[in-house]
Amino acid sequence: MPAIANPSLLILLHHHHHHHLRPRRFATALLPQTLLSLLSSSIRAPALRAHSTSSSAQTQPLSTDNARTGRSGSISSPPVQPDIAQKIDINPPKGTRDFPPEDMRLRNWLFNNFKEVSQLYGFEEVDFPVLESEALFIRKAGEEIREQLYCFEDRGNRRVALRPELTPSLARLVIQKGKSVPLPLKWFAVGQCWRYERMTRGRRREHYQWNMDIIGVPDVTAEAELISSIVTFFKRIGITASDVGFKVSSRKVLQEVLRGYSVPDHLFGRVCVIIDKMEKIPIDDIKKELRSAELSEEVIEELLQVLSVKSLEKLEEKLGTVGEALVDLKQLFSLAEKYGYADWIQFDASVVRGLAYYTGIVFEGFDREGKLRAICGGGRYDHLLSTFGGDNIPACGFGFGDAVIVELLKEKGLLPELSPQVENIVCSLDQDLRGTAAAVASILRQKGQSVDLVLENKPLKWVFKRAARINAQRLILVGSAEWQKGMVGVKILTSGEQYEVKVDELE
Ligand code: HAM
Repeated sequence: MPAIANPSLLILLHHHHHHHLRPRRFATALLPQTLLSLLSSSIRAPALRAHSTSSSAQTQPLSTDNARTGRSGSISSPPVQPDIAQKIDINPPKGTRDFPPEDMRLRNWLFNNFKEVSQLYGFEEVDFPVLESEALFIRKAGEEIREQLYCFEDRGNRRVALRPELTPSLARLVIQKGKSVPLPLKWFAVGQCWRYERMTRGRRREHYQWNMDIIGVPDVTAEAELISSIVTFFKRIGITASDVGFKVSSRKVLQEVLRGYSVPDHLFGRVCVIIDKMEKIPIDDIKKELRSAELSEEVIEELLQVLSVKSLEKLEEKLGTVGEALVDLKQLFSLAEKYGYADWIQFDASVVRGLAYYTGIVFEGFDREGKLRAICGGGRYDHLLSTFGGDNIPACGFGFGDAVIVELLKEKGLLPELSPQVENIVCSLDQDLRGTAAAVASILRQKGQSVDLVLENKPLKWVFKRAARINAQRLILVGSAEWQKGMVGVKILTSGEQYEVKVDELE
C-alpha cells in the first residue's frame, strides 16, 4: 500500500465507513500515459465542465440555460409562447411499458440468459424490422393474432403492421437469402412484438419474444434440440422440472383423423385454429365453428375424443395404426431420455396451438401450479416458407415471452437482485479541481474502469450516500494538497481501507 503522506483527506474519509457494500474484484490494467501529461491541458480547462459543451446547446436549445446552471429539476418554461404548454399523460400507452433502470437491469439479465443459451447451442443472432408489410401476417385461418394486429396505412399509402410475432419475418429473410446460405440455419432473435390483446397477467400489448428456429431439418431431432435449449435456460435461472413442464403433441394426430374421414387438407389449418380455442370458449361454440368448417358430427366427435388422450399408449390404441404422428412423438420422447429432460415433457393431445402454420410437433411450456398462461410455445412449420413463395424447406422453432417468466420468477421468489454497478466514484473537493477530477476519471476509464464522476460541488456526505446508492466499490477524492504531489485519496468502500496513491499507480 502506498505511504500516507498527508492526513487531511484520510481524516475526511475516516468518518464514512460503508462496510455493507459487497466486495468485488478490480481489474488490473495497463499504465496509461502519465497523469500530468494528460492533465496539463485540462487542469485549468473549463471545457471539461458539462455546461460548455456546444453540441448539447445545439441539439437542445431550450435547455441551455438549465445546462449552464448545472442544476437539474429547475427547468423554466421557454420565454416564447408560454401558453402552448400542455399537460401530457405521463403513463405509457395502455398495455405498454417503460423500462426505468431497475426494470432495464432485469430485462438485460433475462435477455443475456436468452442470448447465452442460444449461443451455447450454436445459434446465430438475427433481427428484423418491427414494422413489416401487413400482408406478411395475413393468413386465412381465422387466427386470433390477425384480430389483434396493429396495422395502418403509412404516408406512402402502404399497408403496414407492427409485427405480432417474428416467424413470418424469419421466413421472409430465409427466402430472401435463397440458395446462398447452406442449411441448416440455426437462428435466434429477441425482439419486441405487438398484439392488441385483452390484458391479463403476463399478457400485454407489447412484449419481447426470444425465438430459436432451425431451418432445413425435417427430423424431430430439431424439436428435441429446441426443447433442450429451453430446459437449459430454465435450469440456469433456477426453475426446475417441478415448477414447469412441456406439453407436447403433434398436429399430425389431427391430420390423420381428418384424412381418415376424407376431410380436404385445405381445412386443416382452420380446424386447428378452432380447436386451439377449446380452453377459452364453450364446447358448443367450438362445435358450431367446426360445423361451419364443413365437418360432420362424426368427425367432430372423433376429433374431440382424440384430443382428450394423455398418453402415447392410448393414442396408439385410438389411432389403430402407427402413423407419422406416433413415430415422431416416440422418437422425441426417446431423445428426451438421452438429453436427460424426459421428466420435463408429457404428451397431451389437447395442445394444438393457435397459429395456422404449424404442421407437426407442437409444444407449450406451462407452470405446474396452473396459475399462469403459456410460458412459451413452438412447433414445426414445414409449409410456411412455401406458402410465401419460397422452396419447401422444413422448419421449426419456438417463441418465449418476457412477461410470464417474470411472473413465475416472482411466484417462486427467484427474481435476481440486480443493483447498479459502477467501480469508482470520483469527486473533487473544491470547485477548481473539477477539471482535474474529470482527468482522473478519464485515466481510470482508459484502463477500463467504470467511473461515476460527481459533476457538481457536493458535500462529502452526499457523495457517500450516492456511492452507496450506485453500489460504487471505490471512492477517489481529488483534494488540492494531495494533488500538488500528483496524488489522490482512495477509499475502498467495501472494506473501509483507505490510502493515498499517485494517480498513475491507480489500478
Ligand atoms: P405464440 O404462442 O403466439 O407463438 O407466442 C409465443 C410466446 O410469446 C408465448 O408463449 C408467450 O410467452 C409470448 N407472448 C405471446 N403473446 C404475448 C403477449 N400478448 N404478452 C406477453 N407475452 C406474449 C409465436 O408467436 C410463434 N411465432 C413462436 C414460434 C417461433 N414458432 C416457431 N418459431
